[in-house]
Amino acid sequence: MQEKPAVLILAAGLGTRMKSERAKVLHEVAGRPLIVWAVETARAAGAERVVAILGHQHEAVKAVLDARYGQGQVEIAIQPEQKGTGHAVQCGLPALAGEPGDQVVIILSGDAPLLRAERVAELAAACRASVAGLALLSTRPPRPMPYGRLVRDGAGKLLRIVEHKDASEAERAIDEMNAGFYAVRLEHLRKDVAALRANNAQGELYLTDMVARAAERGGAVVIDAPFEEVSGINDRVDLAAVAVVAQQRINEGWMRAGVTMQAPEQIFIGADVGPIGQDVWMGAGVHLRGRTQVGAGAHIDVGSVLTDAEIAPGAYLKPYSVITESVIGPKAEIGPFTHCRPGTRVDERAKLGNFVETKKAHLMAGAKANHLSYLGDADIGADANIGAGTITCNYDGFHKHKTVIEAGAFIGSDSQLIAPVTVGRNAYVASGTTVTRDVPRGSLALARVKQINKDGWGDQFRESKGKRPSKHGNNNE
Ligand code: UD1
Ligand code: CA
Repeated sequence: MQEKPAVLILAAGLGTRMKSERAKVLHEVAGRPLIVWAVETARAAGAERVVAILGHQHEAVKAVLDARYGQGQVEIAIQPEQKGTGHAVQCGLPALAGEPGDQVVIILSGDAPLLRAERVAELAAACRASVAGLALLSTRPPRPMPYGRLVRDGAGKLLRIVEHKDASEAERAIDEMNAGFYAVRLEHLRKDVAALRANNAQGELYLTDMVARAAERGGAVVIDAPFEEVSGINDRVDLAAVAVVAQQRINEGWMRAGVTMQAPEQIFIGADVGPIGQDVWMGAGVHLRGRTQVGAGAHIDVGSVLTDAEIAPGAYLKPYSVITESVIGPKAEIGPFTHCRPGTRVDERAKLGNFVETKKAHLMAGAKANHLSYLGDADIGADANIGAGTITCNYDGFHKHKTVIEAGAFIGSDSQLIAPVTVGRNAYVASGTTVTRDVPRGSLALARVKQINKDGWGDQFRESKGKRPSKHGNNNE
């Protein structure tokens, strides 16, 4: 008997109630498309082969899966028209043509991201142990749902599932409902879906009709699951509700791993973020996105938004730091209000302060830019000091050029560095200088108009405009 289940993901539905240009399974929960949640669950449950049954926007969905897992790693079957869940499985089965009859097949819904992998493994085990070769999840929703009802006989044996639209008044009163997840032996699945007929209220091929056939083989096994875990997404209200639960699970996982969260309900951590080290502290309104990683003891203060960032142990991010595709080194200090754009590297103990924007800038150990700067396409050597208002002029409208500031250099406030240009080791650039040529090591660059003071000019100017000099400015009072 095969140990590893194969998985079919039902994901061809239109998702009309999402009112979206995008296929439902591409909408995201905690930064991950719904279809990816299903694949991750399948893989975590030990699935070797995963087949996604797609319809609506199948090319876009396939592109997402190929980008993440590698070309063809998640197999695709197309259901050209949505004629029901049974029809969807009919479209998926040819992909499993080479598999043996005793293969356990898990059938998941592509729009229910909260299902736990442990539950899927439990379902697979129940299927293997069952006489009828079928196990399914039931649930008892807290409010009325148009779900299939589990119809049992007096002895409790599951006889069939009746869909809400086909159910009698008495059947609709049954509170045990079909959650829409199954584990079934492939040989039965093949025969049972081939036998489906669309003789029902919706004129569809119902996958759920396989339950009545399993009753003839001794009856399907039912595992009860909390509604919260199996509930699917139909509209954007569901999407938001599921996202809240997913976020809570993710945050609790990190808190158990040793992360402190000031206000966990206001912290948003993507499902693909990690690792996050022990003793990391996060303030309210922090967002960690993409593949962000955070080292032990890092401090990420209020409102910081990190996307595909790598934060080293002990780094200190002050409020409202926005960091994208950048690497922040150990004990570096960032913020408040710093914007690190892609390709920024900040080494050990380096500092970026308020209103500093960086892009493809490498600040080496101990370098500082504490206020109001733009540093793009720049290498900034160890312990260099970048004064307030310094700007690397890296773009001439056609090409980007590089600025090199060597170790220990001091750039005075309000300087512009017209790239390509190099400021040598330990050199000084005087405040207000526009640097257009390389500055040799240890020298001073000074390029500003020499100051002249004109005595009495201010007072005379005011008088010419008919205004008396200000009383407060008059030294004689
Ligand atoms: C189905 C079950 C119902 C169960 C409910 C739980 C059937 C007949 N009924 O209801 O007993 O209570 O799920 O949510 O199976 N899909 C396709 N192709 C199709 C139709 C659906 O891929 O032609 C996909 C959808 O994209 C979705 C999943 O199958 O991911 C379930 O479809 P949905 O229409 O939500 O469920 P129902 O058929 O109403
Ligand atoms: Ca100036």
